[in-house]
Amino acid sequence: MGKKKLVVLTGAGISAESGFETFRDAGGLWEKYSVEDVCTPAGFRRDPDFVNGFYNGLRRQLLSAVPNAGHTTLAAMERDFDIDVITQNVDDLHERAGSSRVLHLHGELMKVCSSRDKDDPRYIRTLPASAPEVCPGELCADGSPLRPWIVFFGESVPQLDAAAERVRQADAFAVIGSSLNVYPAAGLVRYVPEGAPAFLIDPKEVDVPAFLPVRVIRDVASTGVPRLWEALKEIC
Ligand code: APR
Repeated sequence: MGKKKLVVLTGAGISAESGFETFRDAGGLWEKYSVEDVCTPAGFRRDPDFVNGFYNGLRRQLLSAVPNAGHTTLAAMERDFDIDVITQNVDDLHERAGSSRVLHLHGELMKVCSSRDKDDPRYIRTLPASAPEVCPGELCADGSPLRPWIVFFGESVPQLDAAAERVRQADAFAVIGSSLNVYPAAGLVRYVPEGAPAFLIDPKEVDVPAFLPVRVIRDVASTGVPRLWEALKEIC
């Protein structure tokens, strides 16, 4: 009998204890920066250097951040479960913690791309840790201003169908550290198979669609994910 399939949808909250601000908590990123300015195609067109400066700052944070017990416990759970991580986060902390199957819905912080066509694979490349910043005026090889390979608001989420397919196969599902405010990512919960146990780990109240009965672990990720592991061992 193969391992049961656990699919988790993670958000900024799982990286909070690694020193990353979340977006919508008090004092979060969207209180300091306007989404319009740093996370929309219009904002990039208006001032590409300002947008690249914002992501350069997040990359500097990433280079000094380390995975926390939420990430590392989730990776360790692969001993007992076949785990698909679907993350809204653009950091690489799941990978650095050892999770073997991570799908990034909103792009990846260390990658840059063409601003003519963000999904043209010829121009998506990873910045080396030794040079993690985009310089003012820097151009992509196709001559367009270089931009972060981040899904801006209003842009397509290329990995959405692949993510939905993984959720459909879940024997168990968990949301970890997401306010479920942003679609289409939050809409993935509708693909959880009927009867599959679903959990939500968050220190705060999160509105979950009524059709998904979740068992809430009211906790931070670093102590909540170990509790998820215990709960899953009871029922799987
Ligand atoms: N452990 C677990 N959860 C936490 C922790 C923690 N230590 N600290 C905060 N949280 C929870 C918050 O209570 C909140 O419910 O994490 C959630 C973070 O929600 P958001 O800040 O809205 O982040 P997220 O849901 O990932 O945002 C989704 O919005 O701006 C876009 O593209 C961006 O991927 C992002 C998307």
